[in-house]
Amino acid sequence: MKVVETEKLLRAQVKIWRSQGETLGFVPTMGALHQGHLRLVEAAQRLCDRVILSIYVNPTQFAPEEDYLRYPRPWVKDRALCQKNGVDLIYRPQNLYHPEGTTIVLEKELSQGRCGVTRPAHFQGVATVVTKLLNLVQPDRAFFGWKDAQQVEVIQRVVSDLNIPVKIEPVEIVRDRDGLAFSSRNVYLSAQERDRALAIPLLLQVAAGRRDRKKWLTQNLSKIKGIKLDYVEESQGRLCVAAWVGKTRLLDNWPISLK
Ligand code: PAF
Repeated sequence: MKVVETEKLLRAQVKIWRSQGETLGFVPTMGALHQGHLRLVEAAQRLCDRVILSIYVNPTQFAPEEDYLRYPRPWVKDRALCQKNGVDLIYRPQNLYHPEGTTIVLEKELSQGRCGVTRPAHFQGVATVVTKLLNLVQPDRAFFGWKDAQQVEVIQRVVSDLNIPVKIEPVEIVRDRDGLAFSSRNVYLSAQERDRALAIPLLLQVAAGRRDRKKWLTQNLSKIKGIKLDYVEESQGRLCVAAWVGKTRLLDNWPISLK
């Protein structure tokens, strides 16, 4: 497995694989890898000859009061996981932004509701960094988890609007044995908070099969001690939730099973 930090080395390796006629799958991450990321790697391996995974904690998608500085960065563990799971190359840039850069990618519709309300600059940061990463790696396919459903929607729109020649491959949510969706931020939860957080997938699953799903889920999640609901919304045939458990904001969603 190769680990590269510079654009020059990344492009050189991509050129070699391209010259051999190999297809490239790309898994962009911020590290702190978990089973959800590994499922993206598996999906990429099924569909592509080579898998490139990037690790970059992107500062522009965090608001000043958010967790950029304390976001977990377990590099040694991440590298070992990639090695064990057959990633071909880790792209680990130290910084992706030109100090004098003045260009951003702003998706103006899908990024506005839901998470865009409480995190107004978040999707602009995501859209900008993902566009940069896609330009650098130039993969055939890029893989994103459905847990961040709005992120998937925004990226699909950006890729379509800007004619970026890549196929976006959303991959289903992976859950821990207790039902909680894997997320790098789960490490912030105390044991008690994690217990409380389990109400989210439990109630989501029930709600997704009901006609009054939005109302029912809002009412029932609002009753749970220690959970502060941000929103319940439907999108892309999914019932989507964001909620704070203590100081940790969790996202989850479930495919709606009743039409
Ligand atoms: O989903 C993530 O981990 C990040 O938002 C992404 C897509 C790697 C962009 O920084």
